[in-house]
Amino acid sequence: MTPGLSVSRHLTHFSQSMTEKNSPVQVQIEGTITNAESAASWLSSERERLLNILAREGAVLLRGLPLSNALDFDACVVALELENFTYAESLSNAVRVNKTERVFTANEAPPELEIFLHHEMAQTPTYPSKLLFFCEHSSDTGGSTPLCQSERLLKQLRDKVPQLIDDLQSKGVQYTNVMPASADLGSGQGRSWQNTLGSKSKDSAESRLRELNYTWEWLQNENLKVTTPVLPATRLLADGREVFFNQLIAAYRGWKDSRNKDSKKIRFGDGGDISEESMEIVCETAEDITHDHFWQKGDLLLVDNFLIMHGRRPFVGTRKVLASLSI
Ligand SMILES: [Fe+2]
Repeated sequence: MTPGLSVSRHLTHFSQSMTEKNSPVQVQIEGTITNAESAASWLSSERERLLNILAREGAVLLRGLPLSNALDFDACVVALELENFTYAESLSNAVRVNKTERVFTANEAPPELEIFLHHEMAQTPTYPSKLLFFCEHSSDTGGSTPLCQSERLLKQLRDKVPQLIDDLQSKGVQYTNVMPASADLGSGQGRSWQNTLGSKSKDSAESRLRELNYTWEWLQNENLKVTTPVLPATRLLADGREVFFNQLIAAYRGWKDSRNKDSKKIRFGDGGDISEESMEIVCETAEDITHDHFWQKGDLLLVDNFLIMHGRRPFVGTRKVLASLSI
């Protein structure tokens, strides 16, 4: 029997309703897929349809495929023929461990830490367009992945905090973060500056930062404080949708490790303050329209990084969610 694909009707409601919570489109897998190899070949044959659904809806869940480990996930990523966005070359702040060339742990931060909503690497000049997640082991409690439709959020914020959105769009935003001299596994932003910048020496770190138009300051213990160039806080997509493409929520609510707890992490591009009052409204509004994806072992979740913000809720027990990124 040839495996087919159909979209479960009751789960396709990525409507524009302002009150309805949303969930990823779940693609029902019909037919017989008995192992990772046949799963990969099915993905390959359905590639175009899946990517079209992803581009339209923002998140696609494949549940029930016989996938059990990083190699199985890697085979699926390869089958989808998406160009790799490597962690090594990225400016991600998270500590991650590569399992294969294309697959790595999502974030090594301790389970009790929440990673707040963000578009992946929107606080840097380069970011992936698609994220692929695979659940190797679900946690006992918690550990869901919150998903928030960014277009919907921006529409609501225009009503609630119009001045903030005007200011963000006219001025842009800058992020400041202090990187450690060696990996800090106790932090969601614990990647060392050497690893982040691909530099062994301070000189080469500085020349990389110069290339990227960052400013920097060396602190005690060889910690490195960096500020990004001015980055856009919203993004107009090719199909006319406009999204809240930034890292404001994650930087405001999170980024509170021992190096960063007291410093200002976000400001407008002209150096002005972004008020706590307006950021609280942003965070509440996003939370109100967020859907939590609760993982089951074997889940494969595709996320369009321009349409959907994601995060990680705290958890208890072992949680193994692997990730792969695509340009
Ligand atoms: Fe992320």
